[in-house]
Formats: sequence, C-alpha cells, structure tokens
Amino acid sequence: MVRDGREILSNVVVSQIDIFAEYGGVIPEVAARSHLEAMMPVVDKALANANVSWEEIDAIAVTHAPGLLGSLLIGTLTARTLAILHSKPLYAVHHLKSHVYANWLSSEKAEPKSVPTFPLLALVVSGGHTQIMYMREHNHFEIIGTTHDDAVGECFDKVAKILGLPYPGGPSIAKAAKGDSSKYRLPHPKVEGLDFSFSGLKTAVLRAVQKEVGVPISFPSHKLKELLSEYQVRDFAASFQKTAVEILTEKMKMALDEYPEVKSIVVAGGVSANEALRENFLTESVFSDAGRHVFFPASSLSGDNGAMVAAACYYEIQSGVKPTDPYKLNIYPRVEIDK
Ligand code: KG4
Ligand code: ZN
Repeated sequence: MVRDGREILSNVVVSQIDIFAEYGGVIPEVAARSHLEAMMPVVDKALANANVSWEEIDAIAVTHAPGLLGSLLIGTLTARTLAILHSKPLYAVHHLKSHVYANWLSSEKAEPKSVPTFPLLALVVSGGHTQIMYMREHNHFEIIGTTHDDAVGECFDKVAKILGLPYPGGPSIAKAAKGDSSKYRLPHPKVEGLDFSFSGLKTAVLRAVQKEVGVPISFPSHKLKELLSEYQVRDFAASFQKTAVEILTEKMKMALDEYPEVKSIVVAGGVSANEALRENFLTESVFSDAGRHVFFPASSLSGDNGAMVAAACYYEIQSGVKPTDPYKLNIYPRVEIDK
C-alpha cells in the first residue's frame, strides 16, 4: 500500500519459501492453493498496518501478468471482487513494470532517496525474466533486450540445484560464493545485440562439475552434489556468480553505447538483491559517467511485493491510464508491457 507513489504505508509479504524448500522448487498448484489461503489475511493485515479504512483507499492494483497462472487468477479474481464490493477503480498492472517501480519507493529503513530520471535504462532480472527496457518517460517501456531461453534467476536456481544448495537458489549461491571466482572458466554466451541466453551457462556449469568430479555426462545430475566438496561448491558458486554478473554488466554497457543519452540506470527484480551485482554496477565507472545514477531497490523490495504494484499503479494513474472495468477484466492474463 503506497500513499503517493513513494511512501509505503504497509507492505505485507507472505513467503512460500518454506513450503518450496522441501520440494526444491515451485509447484504451481501448491503455490495457488497457498496463495488462496493467504489472500484475505494479507489484505486485512495490510489495511491494519497502514491504519486505513476502505473509505481512504483510492484504487486497487493487482498483478495481472506475467506469472504463474493459478496464482494470477486468484489475485485477479480477489481484486476484481474487492473493487466491485467497495466501488474502487481497479488497475491490472504488468508484473515487470511493478518491479521497475520498486525503485521509486523509499524503504521503511533507508533515508528517502532521490528518484530515477528519464530517459533511463532498466534491467529487470527475476526468476522468469531477463530484459533491458528503455523508458523515455513514466509508464513507457520499450523492450530492447530479452533472454532467448532461461532467465538469469532461473539459472541461479538451476545451478544451485546442481551444486546441492537449498531453494531458492539465488540467495544460496550468493551465500556460498565465498570461494575462488576464477577457479572455473565459464563461457559468455554469444548472443546478438542486447539479448541474453542463460541455458548455455547452466549447461557449462553442469559439464564443468561433471569434469571436476570425473563422471560421464550421462551421470544423474541430482547425484553430483554427493561428489562435491564444500570447497568445490564455493568455487563453483563464486565462478558462476561472477560470470552471470559479468554477462549482465557487458550487456548493459552495450545498451549504454546505443542509448548514451540515458540519465539513470535502474535494476529490478529478485536477482537485483544480489550483492555482487550491486557492487559491480555501483562501481562501474561507465555507468555513472556524465552524472548518471545507478538505482537498486532496497533489498527488501527486490523480490515480489505489493508495494511495488501500488507504486506502478500510481504512476499509471499519473500518466492518464484509465481503470479496468472489473466486470470485463479478462482473467486470462495479458503479457504486453510496451505502450
Ligand atoms: O522477482 P522475483 O522475486 O520473482 C519473480 O518474479 O520471478 O525473483 C525471484 C528470483 C529467483 O530466481 C531467486 O533465486 C532470485 O530471484 N534471487 C537472487 C537473489 N535473491 C533472489 N538471485 C541472485 N542473488 C540473490 N541474492
Ligand atoms: Zn517478480
């Protein structure tokens, strides 16, 4: 819940990590069921924490797409019902747009910070997406680079699995990456222009692990972890993380060559919590040339959360976007972000 596009009144997040740690990954059906159970308690808690009543709410924003279909359906139907019950305008917001707008929020802990200025380049790095967007102004997104296969977060998750590290893989890799980051040389995929590919990097790690422990490529990958020492895991985690960060940095440098006029670089999505990525971007002199600024959300706002959805909605309203008729809202998600 956001007051003016920036100030967070409440931000209740229910994590399903404990449920999925047991399975080693997300199971969409289980995610949807637990989403359903959490929904109304979260709405009630968000209102209570913010100390506001329904009368004081200006609009309802909901994540419409992209994401797991079952969870999106439950969120959309709940928001639609609440909008009808309380006669509130309803905004169906694109998930990646919300991640980008986490950079306009001031976190509860941090000092109020400055906001990104336009035009800007946004790098969205999450479990499902890896995209570079050019934003000329608020609510204008032009996708100029995207992944051809896996997202970088997905790659962190899959590499963690190979190394026997717990779900979710991103934070586990980051924690384990204390080893020698130049021990294993991993390739940078050759992808044209500003696009990405991460499935090759995952396979490169798999092959390097198989070689290191001396097993053929037919060896079951879920058993590799039994053959790896703690030091090998650390070196692999560090080498992989360094390579992933280098790939993202390289592509953003290329994007900057094409769009030298940008005034800010904005990073968003679950992977933007990664400390090595933050350090690399914040110290890369090309990124902060010509008075440019690099923005990351507060790490508590990098992953999925409601405040960022409210912020994106606020700027949609400022840009003149009209609400959706709750009776006509297509519960089958739309996926376009370009305006
Ligand atoms: O944005 P998000 O919370 O959900 C999606 O919209 O996908 O991103 C989740 C992704 C997961 O792949 C997770 O492993 C990754 O973000 N992630 C990280 C870190 N924290 C979360 N990846 C690298 N380093 C981290 N510290
Ligand atoms: Zn997300």
